[in-house]
Amino acid sequence: MSEHNRRLVERAGIDVEKLLDMLLRAAAAEFTTYYYYTVLRNHAVGLEGGETIKEIVEDARLEDRNHFEALVPRIYELGGELPKDIVDFSKMAWCRDAYLPEEPTIENILKVLLEAERCAVGGVYTEICNYTFGKDPRTYDLALAILHEEIEHEAWFEELLIGKPSGHFRRSKPGESPYVSRFLR
Ligand SMILES: [Fe+2]
Ligand SMILES: [Fe+2]
Repeated sequence: MSEHNRRLVERAGIDVEKLLDMLLRAAAAEFTTYYYYTVLRNHAVGLEGGETIKEIVEDARLEDRNHFEALVPRIYELGGELPKDIVDFSKMAWCRDAYLPEEPTIENILKVLLEAERCAVGGVYTEICNYTFGKDPRTYDLALAILHEEIEHEAWFEELLIGKPSGHFRRSKPGESPYVSRFLR
């Protein structure tokens, strides 16, 4: 199955090694983001932070973990694999590490969160969609589903930071992944 699918994708004009590199760097960014968002969520405290902000960070955190989970099967289907060493994997991340800021005010934490989501939207998934469009429908569909969620995450943090309404409301359950959940069955 995977060999045949890989050949089909190659015949459509995709450099599968390049695509695998993109998917691995995307998966590494999701995996590291999941870790860093755990730290950031724990520090979203005080009068300006608290449970409201924590809940929103939690939705984004769990959905980013879902993105990792959804990407991994496609990597193996295309003949790739996860690195043996987690340190090597974390260094592959497409986006900068979302470190807790030196001065961890809510505003500074939100800036880090927004920058991470912007990398996912503008860098990772827009590029994967553009590269696979019309050539590898399965990867395209997956990257597009993730992109929908990243754009929502971006809008949540932008709303919190600059007060412009995002038009989105909370998930019905934490980490619901309305677009990506169909890849997780
Ligand atoms: Fe993500
Ligand atoms: Fe995200």
